[in-house]
Amino acid sequence: MAVLIATFVMMLILVLIKHVAKSKIQGKNKGCMPKRKSPKPTKEIYSTTWSGLYRFSKDEIENAINNDWDRRFLGRGSAGLVYKGVLPSGQVVAIKHIYKSNNTDSFSREVEGLSRVRHPNLVCLFGCCVEGGEQYLVYEFCAAGNLAQHLLRKDSVLTWERRVKILRDCALALRYLHHYIDGCIVHRDIKLTNILLTEKLEPKLSDFGLAKMLGMEESKVFTDVRGTIGYMDPEYMTNAKLTCASDIYSFGIVALQLLSGQKVIELDFDARDQLTRKARDVSMGKRPIKDFEDPRLNGNINRADFESILKIAVLCVAKSSKGRPTIDVVYEEIDKAWKNTMVEMII
Ligand SMILES: Nc1ncnc2c1ncn2[C@@H]1O[C@H](COP(=O)(O)OP(=O)(O)OP(=O)(O)O)[C@@H](O)[C@H]1O
Ligand SMILES: [Mg+2]
Repeated sequence: MAVLIATFVMMLILVLIKHVAKSKIQGKNKGCMPKRKSPKPTKEIYSTTWSGLYRFSKDEIENAINNDWDRRFLGRGSAGLVYKGVLPSGQVVAIKHIYKSNNTDSFSREVEGLSRVRHPNLVCLFGCCVEGGEQYLVYEFCAAGNLAQHLLRKDSVLTWERRVKILRDCALALRYLHHYIDGCIVHRDIKLTNILLTEKLEPKLSDFGLAKMLGMEESKVFTDVRGTIGYMDPEYMTNAKLTCASDIYSFGIVALQLLSGQKVIELDFDARDQLTRKARDVSMGKRPIKDFEDPRLNGNINRADFESILKIAVLCVAKSSKGRPTIDVVYEEIDKAWKNTMVEMII
């Protein structure tokens, strides 16, 4: 009888401890933004790696999207549809509604990746929502859309100074990722549509759905080959060996596009090879700069800076990753060109 009573009391104590611990976790997981009534957290949102992110309810998401009277659709990507939204505070946001068919991999990578990184040139992830089988990501809103839209616009031209500044700031964001405190974060999807622009045309790197962290001791990792074909490192495509140099390759393609104003080449190997071949020839002096310069710039470039950016971009798109510069070297060169361009502007 005594043993039975003792066992019963022990079980009661265990149940009590479990209950207290659970309510503590719930308390911790409340977000950092304005409170809402009776949140109903689902199992998934207890992940500790997502701490610091606000968990929206589905009602909050729907209200935010419908708050904007014209329910503006911002775009469609491989992971989901993007809408403009307005939070009760008046803060404008971009809300990505993840396709149901999309595997949760990209959603959780994005949440885990972006919730920890913070840089003025990286799109900030404010929060997420997992409810009723739906997944949403809520980002800071970049009013001027993506870089591809601007580079290819017929009614206005991105000036030379603006192009250099965009490249310099993107290199800065990439330098932050490649030197992240826990190891190198490889973005894996650097391309024109993943560079968003604020109202003042300041660039912000977006989309961490494919990002991968290399540990301190790792210089490479073997992984599934994913990314956007025209921007993908050929070495990574053949041997699935992912290194920081894969981002450098994609960055080099973006730089060549900004110099030449060439169309988005997301799915086209031939267009990519033509672009890199032409860039090499011009950089070695086999062809005149005019052959590579975006005609819409009308010659309004700083020639010396154009040449030095072209040179570094050509090194970035070297077929072998060993021939490519590190992000520090890339940033240094582009920053020099930016400072020089600025001085010329003032004079
Ligand atoms: N934070 C944001 N602010 C403003 N517009 C955005 C924002 N995020 C995305 N968009 C717009 O929505 C479009 C779709 O974005 P998404 O990241 O889903 O796809 P993508 O990058 O164009 O293509 P993919 O998914 O194939 O890489 C973007 O091209 C951009 O124009
Ligand atoms: Mg994108």
